[in-house]
Amino acid sequence: MSAFATRPVDGLRIVALETVPEAVGQIVQWFESEWPDWYGPDGPGNPASDLQQCLDSSRILPRCLVAVDNVSRPVGTVSLRDISPGSDRYPGVWLTALLVPQPRRQSGIGGMLVSAAEREADRLGFDEIHATTGSAQSLLVRRGWKLHDTLKVDPGMLQIFRKSLKQSC
Ligand SMILES: CC(C)(COP(=O)(O)OP(=O)(O)OC[C@H]1O[C@@H](n2cnc3c(N)ncnc32)[C@H](O)[C@@H]1OP(=O)(O)O)[C@@H](O)C(=O)NCCC(=O)NCCS
Repeated sequence: MSAFATRPVDGLRIVALETVPEAVGQIVQWFESEWPDWYGPDGPGNPASDLQQCLDSSRILPRCLVAVDNVSRPVGTVSLRDISPGSDRYPGVWLTALLVPQPRRQSGIGGMLVSAAEREADRLGFDEIHATTGSAQSLLVRRGWKLHDTLKVDPGMLQIFRKSLKQSC
């Protein structure tokens, strides 16, 4: 199993979904419970289909990364997509569907996933990455992301963050 990131301290690794396809069912449950308006029974989203697309190796995007513990149990996930709120303004790769289940939060897994998503976007050849969020601003800012734009949604506003993936010399 190839690993995008390791954290020897707690044994967590971040791997591509295709290396742990058995995690799809668990991630579907997380998506349904975290974003019921989109992924719930009455929502327009289809979490299984979204994740299945990440397993199609003939396409660069979408990609799904999974944080797994030392017995390969999923403990968080993030995706890279070219469609996200705001992607009509800024085409390219977007960090989306960042999720750590409640009992595992506040221990650094979200930060590891953001870093892994950045590295994967860089590896895929993108020069910059965007993310729309109303909840993970500090996580992004701490990793050098900059507020780039805002997006009016119903209800409220979301913030669009951007990070350059080019090495500064
Ligand atoms: C946003 C989310 C992914 C963050 O995941 P997480 O694993 O809790 O993230 P981290 O642990 O890396 O960081 C969260 C906070 O814990 C702090 N933290 C990290 N390791 C820590 C540790 N060992 N001890 C104490 N605090 C710690 C971080 O500094 C961070 O602080 P902040 O909230 O001020 O930024 C998670 O809360 C989540 O899934 N939320 C619901 C879905 C969502 O909103 N997704 C984002 C959409 S863009």
